[in-house]
Amino acid sequence: MVAGDDGFDRYRPSAVGEMLRDRPPMARELPVFETDLAPAEPGALFVDWLVQALEAGVLDPQVMTLSTVDADGVPDARVLVLRDVDAAEGAWLFAAEADSPKGRQLALSPMAALSVYWPLLGRQVRVRGSVEAAPPAVSAEEFRGRSPGARVASLVGRQSEPLGSLAAYDLAADEAQLLLDADPELVAAGHTVYVLRAAEVEFWQGDPSRRHVRLRYTRTGLGTGRIAWTSTLLWP
Ligand SMILES: Cc1cc2nc3c(=O)[nH]c(=O)nc-3n(C[C@H](O)[C@H](O)[C@H](O)COP(=O)(O)O)c2cc1C
Repeated sequence: MVAGDDGFDRYRPSAVGEMLRDRPPMARELPVFETDLAPAEPGALFVDWLVQALEAGVLDPQVMTLSTVDADGVPDARVLVLRDVDAAEGAWLFAAEADSPKGRQLALSPMAALSVYWPLLGRQVRVRGSVEAAPPAVSAEEFRGRSPGARVASLVGRQSEPLGSLAAYDLAADEAQLLLDADPELVAAGHTVYVLRAAEVEFWQGDPSRRHVRLRYTRTGLGTGRIAWTSTLLWP
């Protein structure tokens, strides 16, 4: 974007803009999304697509973007690892520190979105809903099932605070390692499994000729055993 002589902004791509314009996404053969055959529950379709992404060789298909809002209503987003999906409950599980920016944002505003793009398949999934922390015993069990390296990293804590030097981190990691060696059952204080109960889930299948196919599920019933979903196609 540049300021024109007439005072209005004009769009004139830079060298980077030119480079990007010559790289249209999804310019390859992609799967066809047979929406008539889609299951009644979005969790089941998500698991199907996740397995297909793994089989197709998509790198890290379990990594999703978690979007939250801060106290001023300003959006924030970061990627994290999807821990599990409860298809029957329509719930997506992830783990994070309660005492991190995202943890504090979720405590203040327990609504979030998860989104993922699997490039090899030209597929996007968007999940929106309410988030709650799993009971502490569940978070502790999940923590103890992690690799020692991941547990040490969590025990270091202070996530997203300014760090004086990498040496300061190494020192803190060594201390955390000693604590873990002394007590292998130790759980990081703020380690939390979060459960996102989807209100809406959208499945997006890209098409090289831009006839993208979108299917959105909306939850119509909550809790007490019977969860119902409606689904609708969306204009691309
Ligand atoms: C591939 C990948 C996986 C990640 N997985 C997690 C995760 O499971 N949980 C987590 O808290 N942060 C994870 N992170 C780090 C987050 O992106 C982020 O940097 C960190 O959680 C701090 O976010 P916050 O300041 O918004 O709280 C991951 C980062 C990458 C690149």
